[in-house]
Amino acid sequence: MIIKNVNLETVCGITSKLPENDKPEIAFAGKSNVGKSSLINALMNRKSYARISATPGKTQTINYYNINDELYLVDLPGYGYAKVSEQEKAQWGRMIENYLHSSRQLKAIFLLIDIRHEPSANDKMMYEWVVAQGYNPIIIATKLDKLKRSQVDKHVKMVKQGLNLIPGTIVIPFSAETKQGREEIWELTETEFLG
Ligand code: GTP
Ligand code: MG
Repeated sequence: MIIKNVNLETVCGITSKLPENDKPEIAFAGKSNVGKSSLINALMNRKSYARISATPGKTQTINYYNINDELYLVDLPGYGYAKVSEQEKAQWGRMIENYLHSSRQLKAIFLLIDIRHEPSANDKMMYEWVVAQGYNPIIIATKLDKLKRSQVDKHVKMVKQGLNLIPGTIVIPFSAETKQGREEIWELTETEFLG
């Protein structure tokens, strides 16, 4: 994908109505701090257009990035952040659920998992829920640069087993630092979900 222009077109909070877009949407889900906004920046070739933070819970809205007037990359709020109230957690959960349930243009869901750690109970719930909605999510194993090369296969296996992935599910190791995996993600998006 050649990035010509990017635009944060719509930001939806808890009370906003979701936009009725006429272009394909690709959504990014995952626990807080896993690297969703960093991945979106890497895909857009931007350093910090999507705001990132070392403090979890940065993205608290659903952000629609218009790419070349061709498609939207949709940054979802992270789940599982311990330091927000139960009420806020429930609201975010409903927001994510409502989005996945009602977006008509949603073509693909990427579920991000930190490659260093066993998937959490929330990760498993999210995966199962996405599958129950009829999607076959693609798994992005983030922060690849934090592992030694010799550890990668073992950790990919751990992610596959931890989520109990449907056989054949694609897992792409990715690093926002080195951009490893970026081309693969765009290629898959273009061949499978656009046009
Ligand atoms: P929320 O918006 O809070 O849900 O988080 P997020 O999933 O959007 O994560 P974000 O992209 O803000 O990244 C969280 C932290 O992880 C930041 O400090 C990033 O710099 C760091 N980070 C993200 N991706 C990578 C990566 O591939 N490698 C390394 N080393 N750090 C990363
Ligand atoms: Mg974010």
